[in-house]
Amino acid sequence: MKANYFTGFSNHFSSEARPNVLPDNQNSPQKVQNGLYAEQLSGSAFTAPRSTNLFSWLYRIRPSVMHKRYIPSTELTEKTLFKPKYINPNQMRWNPLPPPTVPQDFVEGLKTICGIGSALEQRGLHIHLYAFNKNMNRRYVMNADGDFLIVLQDGKVQVKTELGVISAEPGEIVVVPRGMVFQINPLSQVCHGYVGENFGSPFRLPELGPIGANGLAHRRHFLTPQAAFEDLDEKVELLGKFSGQWWSAEMDHSPLNVVAWHGNYVPYKYDLRLFNSVNTVSYDHPDPSIFTVLTSPSDTAGVSNIDFVVFPPRWMVAEHTFRPPYFHRNCMSEYMGLIHGVYDAKTSGGFVPGGGSLHNFYSAHGPDSGTYEQASEASLKPHFLENTLAFMFESRAPYLVTDFAMQSGLLQEDYQDCWLGFKKYFK
Ligand SMILES: [Fe+2]
Repeated sequence: MKANYFTGFSNHFSSEARPNVLPDNQNSPQKVQNGLYAEQLSGSAFTAPRSTNLFSWLYRIRPSVMHKRYIPSTELTEKTLFKPKYINPNQMRWNPLPPPTVPQDFVEGLKTICGIGSALEQRGLHIHLYAFNKNMNRRYVMNADGDFLIVLQDGKVQVKTELGVISAEPGEIVVVPRGMVFQINPLSQVCHGYVGENFGSPFRLPELGPIGANGLAHRRHFLTPQAAFEDLDEKVELLGKFSGQWWSAEMDHSPLNVVAWHGNYVPYKYDLRLFNSVNTVSYDHPDPSIFTVLTSPSDTAGVSNIDFVVFPPRWMVAEHTFRPPYFHRNCMSEYMGLIHGVYDAKTSGGFVPGGGSLHNFYSAHGPDSGTYEQASEASLKPHFLENTLAFMFESRAPYLVTDFAMQSGLLQEDYQDCWLGFKKYFK
């Protein structure tokens, strides 16, 4: 892995799995060294401004177009990609996916929980959970719909992409940009986690404003892979995801056949434990936007299509302050997950690693009553909040939920009860 980038855009990277393969000065010479084909992969419109223009040149053993016709993979679609349908004003919380009872790969182990928007609208996101225990072997994925932001919760994974291989562990995230072919394999017995599938503008680091040049996620901690290729002439399956449907095409060679590349349209990983938290050193509570790792901006300034936010271990020093997250109602909508430990607004249980919660637009939420009782009386000495790593996908639009989210048995029907015990202290 290269200690490189990503905010993207203004950066340009290159990598060769064989020496001296990249063309010296041209992107598409008449003939490429070593008999390779030149191919461009665009992540933005050709005419996007330089500050948001994303593209990479790939030098590969055969061009990507060399596959048979796609045919619908209806059974796989119905098993995995559930359609978000229902608006539900209730605060909702789910238990984690159970471990697989049969061998299943990453694709077979995806389950859509909620979402908004679509690839056709080019806005919104879908949130999937995954649980898998099987190698994808001769199966590869090309997702035309959206970027996959993969949040590892349990189990190490190997993400093979056209641009190289990324190995990651819980606490890290991996982003595979839309259109890029990939394969995900377990490096542990069972792997669990979350996927935020972004249909809007690509993720980038948030602006820092008065914070200055340093703080939050540092661009030097975003790692891109070294070029790596499979020179494999065997029958394989290329799964394509188009508008929420799986399609399957046969190939007679591996699509991960890029020997060298250059550009700024790249997969990357980031270790959430490296997040540089900025917080109060006096009193009160900055809004959770202070924990934004990556953002997918919308067309409205300051209003995101998605903010990906992390709540890491950190010092709590605010004086005269109720330190856990405050009670609130939000015009934005919040899906939260827990990677490990305990989230400081839900110390009474129920919000567990691998589970999730949804507080849709203007659904009131905040600390559970047990947390309130404890934190409103706690001694306000400096305290290091440890054993916690939670995250949030915050969106400008409310999330619709799927049949699976409502009927799979994972929904906690008694979630509301955690807020029903607040005593009346008014005098
Ligand atoms: Fe909230």
